[in-house]
Amino acid sequence: MNAFLRFIVLSPALLSATSFPALRNFDFSVATRPLALQYTLQRHGISALRSLKTTDFWLFGTHETPSKIAQAIWLLICGYGDAAHEVLLGVNATNQDIAEYAATHPGQTSWHQDHPLEDVNDLVHSLIHRYEGDFMGEGGHSGFENAKYWAAGGPKEYKNFGNTDAASSVSLIHKALLQWSSLHTPKIAADVVSTNSARIHSIIASGGKRRQVVVAPGCWDPFAFIDLCSTAEQLSSLEQDQLKILQEFELRLLLRYVLLEQRGCDLEILLSGEEQQ
Ligand SMILES: *[C@@H]1O[C@H](CO)[C@@H](O)[C@H](O)[C@H]1NC(C)=O
Repeated sequence: MNAFLRFIVLSPALLSATSFPALRNFDFSVATRPLALQYTLQRHGISALRSLKTTDFWLFGTHETPSKIAQAIWLLICGYGDAAHEVLLGVNATNQDIAEYAATHPGQTSWHQDHPLEDVNDLVHSLIHRYEGDFMGEGGHSGFENAKYWAAGGPKEYKNFGNTDAASSVSLIHKALLQWSSLHTPKIAADVVSTNSARIHSIIASGGKRRQVVVAPGCWDPFAFIDLCSTAEQLSSLEQDQLKILQEFELRLLLRYVLLEQRGCDLEILLSGEEQQ
């Protein structure tokens, strides 16, 4: 199993990494895919910045602080899983004392009401728990189980996925994943897309119960995607490679989504040809 996939699927150590400098844990495949420079500015007088998309400027753009979701994704890429998880829950550089008090006094503060979780936040939350893998996490459930809980909106408990209800932001992201996986990861597309008939999954619900969710036919199946990650070791190396690039795309897509949203851009661009490359 290659290094990135292991990071994505298995390693809990990364999620508690405290001593690693940024980027150390993330395999950008530099060793096997060197980043050749084109020197378009020096050789042709054309700045490389011209080929960046607007949203690629976020780190040095004119906008204020990136949203908490963008910050969480960045922390995750740097291997700081716990920090990413906390940022999603509303913790930031100035409210750590309040967060710590709330965490040690459950039910006695208004933390949850004061820090509502948006739908896209839930998707990133799900992804963090998926990276946690088989390890036991919150509520005595494995990372994979909690990943499905959040993929279904956490306490919002969405039931239908695909053509029907679900939040529009989640539907858009699922559509983009559906399109991209059909084009770029055909070996595993049939696993992560419900084909001819609706699929039903049993997932954990609040209060230690289980409940069922339904994925409409021909749609992105976020629960099957988590299942596929949980069995990654049994896949062929070609399937593992495709699972790896699909997870990379998912991270980029979520980051792009939140940056576009913060700038008030048209989010449908995520379904256009350029973004799907
Ligand atoms: C931190 O979160 C609090 C809410 O708990 C918010 O009022 C404050 O503006 C945030 N600070 C920063 C620097 O984002």
